[in-house]
Amino acid sequence: MNLLPNEAIDSIEGLSGIHAGYRRAHARGVCYRATFHPSGEAASMTTAAHLQGGQLDAIVRFSGSSTDPALADLLSPAKGMAVQFQIPGGKTTCLVGVTVPVFFARTPESFLDLVRAVHKARAGHLSMLDIFKEVAEHFSESKESLLAVKRLLPPASYATNRYYAIHAYYLAGPDGSTRPVKFEWLPDAGLETLSLKEAASKPTEYLEQEMQERLLRGPASFSLSIILGEDEDPTNDSTQAWPDHRERIHAGRLDIHEAIKEPSGLVMDPTSVVPGVELSDDPILLFRRAAYNESYRRRSIGT
Ligand code: HEM
Repeated sequence: MNLLPNEAIDSIEGLSGIHAGYRRAHARGVCYRATFHPSGEAASMTTAAHLQGGQLDAIVRFSGSSTDPALADLLSPAKGMAVQFQIPGGKTTCLVGVTVPVFFARTPESFLDLVRAVHKARAGHLSMLDIFKEVAEHFSESKESLLAVKRLLPPASYATNRYYAIHAYYLAGPDGSTRPVKFEWLPDAGLETLSLKEAASKPTEYLEQEMQERLLRGPASFSLSIILGEDEDPTNDSTQAWPDHRERIHAGRLDIHEAIKEPSGLVMDPTSVVPGVELSDDPILLFRRAAYNESYRRRSIGT
């Protein structure tokens, strides 16, 4: 079966209905003006313009993962951090990360099966916990991702999470070499979470408010880590993490300065790579461009 982006977006819309004008996933979010300062440490491995030297402008969008823009921050456990690097000359490239290291589906088709299983479980009025159990039982590939979500505690801030771009990419170097890599953002402020009780006493949109206060004191910063894959690390399976001890390179620092209105036409497309970065053979990664464009098409016409 070859899944069409339309079918994927229809199925996502079935989770919490249509919220006109919003993204079909990660519906509520806030955009920020940022600057990226590449360390130059990756320059021998990639010709990518944003990983050389100098300073670039960037847009960051933090989000909750829910399809429902009204859902309280506490109730959508995984958070997103999407970064659009603005390369001099007008090109852009994106890295889109979440707070869990693996995805719950290996292929677009199993993504659809899973979303449909959740529809069914909801129609049968199963509790969230039972939906988790049901999915874990029937979709063994989703187990790691579900466990990772279950382990998540509410973040103290959008600026105190580690964000994983999940998919493998390839870096193409000036000498013609290519190597598989993954990307992660590590917060300079360290990892900080809240207990469920603490988070329950916070306002619905506490993460946005916390960022507003934090940024008055100075930029919120993240380090970009590039993880170097070995021959045995899968590049086509988002449900499998690479071993923790793989070599890492500090590729640069991102400083987030202030909240901004979302620029019109913004689509954080994880396949929008520039020369020096290549897409892997991960079918989920390759499907995302069409799905995100379909979501953008719908939200931009106000449906
Ligand atoms: C088949 C797999 C997937 C589908 C169908 C899907 C679908 C979507 C859709 C429709 C949007 C809204 C796009 C827009 O209107 O601009 C979105 C946003 C997002 N997705 Fe996915 N997604 C998938 C996989 C993933 C994965 C693997 C990650 C983890 C890195 C991820 C993280 C995000 C984030 C962080 C956003 C918010 C981007 C922003 O702030 O603009 N998604 N996704």
